[in-house]
Amino acid sequence: MTSTNPALARDIDGKAISAKVLDEVREEVQVLARQQIYPALAVLLVGEDPASEVYVRNKLLRAKEVGIRSLEYRLPEIASQNDVLQLIAQLNADVTVNGILVQLPLPAHIDEAAVIHAIDPIKDVDGFHRENVGGLVQGIEVLTPCTPSGCMRLLQETCGDLSGLHAVVIGRSNIVGKPMATLLLQADCSVSVVHSRSVDAPTLCRMADIVVVAVGRPQMIDASWLKPGAVVIDVGINRITTASGTRLVGDVDYASARTVASAITPVPGGVGPMTIAYLLKNTLVASQLQRGVRTRHSMPL
Ligand code: GUN
Repeated sequence: MTSTNPALARDIDGKAISAKVLDEVREEVQVLARQQIYPALAVLLVGEDPASEVYVRNKLLRAKEVGIRSLEYRLPEIASQNDVLQLIAQLNADVTVNGILVQLPLPAHIDEAAVIHAIDPIKDVDGFHRENVGGLVQGIEVLTPCTPSGCMRLLQETCGDLSGLHAVVIGRSNIVGKPMATLLLQADCSVSVVHSRSVDAPTLCRMADIVVVAVGRPQMIDASWLKPGAVVIDVGINRITTASGTRLVGDVDYASARTVASAITPVPGGVGPMTIAYLLKNTLVASQLQRGVRTRHSMPL
């Protein structure tokens, strides 16, 4: 029997896959506890950005669930850059703190780069320090940005081996686009990065087996950008106002894209939960590296 309804893409279940990652982290935390090693994560929030408050609360909750000790630090909106740098120096020196996360964005009067580079790279669980960025590009095992790591896990669980696939990353931020492209390259994909100055971005995107979108524009990518059967990872989380109130949408027009793609991450419930899971994984790895129970390995040059 033929169907008049074309098949819709299946959802990539970030909640289920992140639960698997959290289980893996919990198990390894228990192994460390038997050696009297207790990973701890310090989270610093400056000011009262409501979205950041929600993210920080979720990070602290999930940490507790896997047995990672968390320390919450708060500074007022008017805190000086020096106040932030002093706290980071104190946390760098504290051997009981394994991971340091400064929630971004920071208030406009604070230089974000100065703060990121003040964090000891071995405690930089965001993977934003230039030493970790450089290591990632060279294929050394370093602390790697959480959202791209989470996206890679979603892709591996969905596609298996990624070798030889053509991946298009839309967006070139330091937090997502650039590290994502690097990780895909390390997984032996052919990688294109499409951005606001790209000529005919939809045509480039239609060549992709894998599309990762991180542009911060609600529902920008629809079916017309996709090759039939493409796997779509939507990093965007945007709140839009509709006739019936507000709702969260991604950078991809989900209803349209799923008529062409073979698999797609929903928003919410796709990439979001993976970011926190990989933050906790990074905290675990940081504590293992600091205590010498894990050694770095390198990719072949
Ligand atoms: N704000 C939005 N995303 C992130 C992230 O991945 N890390 C930090 N520190 N702040 C963020």
